[in-house]
Amino acid sequence: MHSTILGTGSYLPEKILTNKDLEQFIDTTDEWITTRTGIKQRHVAADTDTTADLATRACRNAMESAGLTPDQIDMVIVATATSDDAFPSTASRVQHALGLRNIVAFDVSAACAGFNHGLSIADQYIKTGFAKIIIVVGCEMLTRVVDWADRSTCVLFGDGAGAVVLGASDTPGVLSTHLHCDGSQHGILYAPNTLVQKNADSPFVKMEGREVFRHAVTRLGELVDETLAANNLTKNDIDWLIPHQANIRIIQAMAKKLDMSMDKVIVTVDAQGNTSAASIPLALDIAVRDGRVKRGDLVLLESFGGGLVWGSALIRY
Ligand code: COA
Repeated sequence: MHSTILGTGSYLPEKILTNKDLEQFIDTTDEWITTRTGIKQRHVAADTDTTADLATRACRNAMESAGLTPDQIDMVIVATATSDDAFPSTASRVQHALGLRNIVAFDVSAACAGFNHGLSIADQYIKTGFAKIIIVVGCEMLTRVVDWADRSTCVLFGDGAGAVVLGASDTPGVLSTHLHCDGSQHGILYAPNTLVQKNADSPFVKMEGREVFRHAVTRLGELVDETLAANNLTKNDIDWLIPHQANIRIIQAMAKKLDMSMDKVIVTVDAQGNTSAASIPLALDIAVRDGRVKRGDLVLLESFGGGLVWGSALIRY
């Protein structure tokens, strides 16, 4: 038994915050943000929205594209670093909002690599026959957990959600998944839960940008080699790279590592900023809908985030 992607969906909030808008209230410039990160704008959720609302819209969109109704879904996995509640899971809200049966629903916490983790878990459940159809959704409201007075982090993040419907199949869609964690580097990218950690100073995202950058390029490079080797493939076999969208310079480094021209890389970081667990399924959905990624294409998904965690999936779409 294999798993394959049956449908994709996404949701981006209407409100857009450009770099020029940011210039109005923090000490930054469009030029600095663009040259260091590639980001030009990000989407910001409405005050009335929850993370689960964003996820639900993306899931509906994905179910529609797969031609499935709520009674056909066996499991929902939500990847998020910005859950609405400390407990229960955002997945329980999404399950209810989508009108699903009393199926398994849970959250995965793996920061920006959350979607890769959710996809890998879903793939295992389908391969073992425990479930036939699983929704995996990455959803974030990172604009709620950044300190808008900290220019080194607040310019980087955005809100959004992306989902895939994964289904059982005779032919392989998800060819392999690879996940890693180096907990010794926990302190270079994190957002403390200040209700639990009494000594933490603020709940906002804290990041040592240069260190994160250095680790990301090294680890993702290793991951690309690991993924290709596991499938007996070479760089030339990959049709599309869909990387986590944190920084255009990290994305370019991965394209170079794969000897890929940038027109074979799906880039959304300019328009969306870093949407953490949502970035890969958002980019996949855009590329599927605009016709770049076609059935049969070999697609490499890779991500890196706080933990540190990193993960990949090689997919025959
Ligand atoms: N606007 C203007 N100046 C800024 C700024 C902003 N928004 N943010 C920081 N600066 C300043 C700093 O204060 C510093 O000034 P100084 O030299 O006078 O002290 C200078 O720019 C350089 O800061 P630094 O943090 O060293 O910049 P950088 O080249 O490393 O770029 C990042 C910063 C965050 C863009 C980069 O490190 C990065 O992308 N890291 C990886 C982040 C990432 O991927 N995170 C998510 C992983 S999932």
